[in-house]
Amino acid sequence: MLLAVVYSCVGGGALLYALYRWIIPNLLQYHTGALLFWHDDLVPWVRDTVYGSTRPERILAEVKRKATRGDARSVVDTIDQYCRHQEWAMNVGDEKGTILDSIVCEVKPRAMLELGTYCGYSAVRIASLLPPNSRLITMEFNPVFAAIARQVIAWAGVEDKVVLIEGPSGDWIPKMKKEFGLTSFDLVFLDHWKDCYLPDTKLMEECGLLRTGSILVADNVICPGAPDYLEYVRGSPRYESKYFRSHLEYTRVEDGIEKSVFLG
Ligand SMILES: C[S@@+](CC[C@H](N)C(=O)[O-])C[C@H]1O[C@@H](n2cnc3c(N)ncnc32)[C@H](O)[C@@H]1O
Repeated sequence: MLLAVVYSCVGGGALLYALYRWIIPNLLQYHTGALLFWHDDLVPWVRDTVYGSTRPERILAEVKRKATRGDARSVVDTIDQYCRHQEWAMNVGDEKGTILDSIVCEVKPRAMLELGTYCGYSAVRIASLLPPNSRLITMEFNPVFAAIARQVIAWAGVEDKVVLIEGPSGDWIPKMKKEFGLTSFDLVFLDHWKDCYLPDTKLMEECGLLRTGSILVADNVICPGAPDYLEYVRGSPRYESKYFRSHLEYTRVEDGIEKSVFLG
């Protein structure tokens, strides 16, 4: 009798674990709305409740536990391992990150802007590839995420290349030239809320932050998607635009990066 109870508990536990780790995420691969709800709402809520911490706090703890201090590559790899195998998070991720890396290496920006820092994963990735005397300004309006990102960036040893500013992009963009003594950005990575891509692009144009040849790189243009932005950069004579097909971070769902050159 006791043995039967033990077997049922172990079997039930194993089934629940398999459902949570493999079966449900795999079944949801083909329904993006449900997949995002699972990874971005339901699972974090359960984990936050069980562990008494937030996902960004757990990512930071994993970095401190496993990544080598001062080694940006090790920080990026640690976050990728964690988010692929333990807990999904909205970093650009390893697959699209490689596309971003190649653009950063090709452009060699002196001045680069990132909209949407989250835990600092892409900021570390970008900063580690910047040439000397270059800087990345990254913007985050959630103070809790910004505090975590500062620690991740410092752990990676790239804080001298990164300026993290806190606040909404719509408030900051008009102040950028004056606050930072900038003429324009060579490269802009758009990775904040998708409905901000288009208004912020138009605002950067209005504020003279784009010069002929400035490049915009936009993440998640398919999933969750930024259709108004895509229509604009693909249809406007002011841009030459190219799509890089890939997958939503840490999944097999289609997503991609749009690279758009501002023609003036
Ligand atoms: C997809 S995450 C950024 C991921 C990050 N680029 C990476 O790959 O590691 C989007 C972030 O943008 C921030 N955000 C969204 N809209 C924003 C806005 N208008 N201004 C500043 N931050 C914003 C969110 O709080 C969130 O942390």
